[in-house]
Amino acid sequence: DYVYPIPEDKYNDVIEHLRYNFFADEPLNKCVGLCETGRGHSELELHSILTLQDNLSVMAVNGNGQVIGVALNGIQHEGDVDEAIKKLETLNDKKFKQIFSMLYDLNQSLNLFSRYDVTSIFECRILSVDNNYRGRGLANELFKLSIDIASKAGFKVFKVDATGVFSQKISTKLGLETLIELEYRNHLDSATGLPMFTPPSPHTSLKVMVKILQ
Ligand code: ACO
Repeated sequence: DYVYPIPEDKYNDVIEHLRYNFFADEPLNKCVGLCETGRGHSELELHSILTLQDNLSVMAVNGNGQVIGVALNGIQHEGDVDEAIKKLETLNDKKFKQIFSMLYDLNQSLNLFSRYDVTSIFECRILSVDNNYRGRGLANELFKLSIDIASKAGFKVFKVDATGVFSQKISTKLGLETLIELEYRNHLDSATGLPMFTPPSPHTSLKVMVKILQ
């Protein structure tokens, strides 16, 4: 079953799902060893809760009501990325900062608000499926439902920062176009001159992808 919107009394279950299936598994988090499976990550959890509070997220549950997949969707307003960059400077977690500064810088460079003449953008921030339920089309369905949610809520721009090949495949299939692709091997750490991220195969690039809704 798919549940939208995700009720507040399920937020803890969603976070628990992410601790076991996303925080350690997402290709960039995984390659820097951001956190261990089953353990929390305060910044990522705050990011998830704030996103849930936008009330645009959807989850998949099994017959026992257990959360087996989520698409956490939030609203990005003009200026949010500038604020987020400032906040990042105050944090100590070097790995978290490496990942999010790459994402924020790339987003900032795209000037999406002026490009599309909008004041807010619908953003799919976290797409996650339980390890035991992967490869059955759940992420594809959660993403499709998210596009519907964005459309019905009147957003013009649906965006995702797709960090791995599976989310890129889903996005392409559902009609998103790639605005920019950053190959991880070309994103170098200025201190060492070596690639900052070497995610596990088959993931090789980050794609910022959008769909313009009618
Ligand atoms: N090997 C090869 N192909 C795969 C695999 C795999 N392990 N997993 C998924 N795919 C392909 C599928 O074949 C399918 O392609 P197709 O339509 O051409 O057949 C496509 O990817 C989508 O498959 P789904 O079954 O819908 O995806 P699934 O439910 O397994 O979830 C997800 C995919 C969400 C990426 C899951 O693997 C996961 O939770 N990974 C960890 C977190 C993560 O990386 N999330 C995406 C980061 S980007 C973001 O969050 C915005």
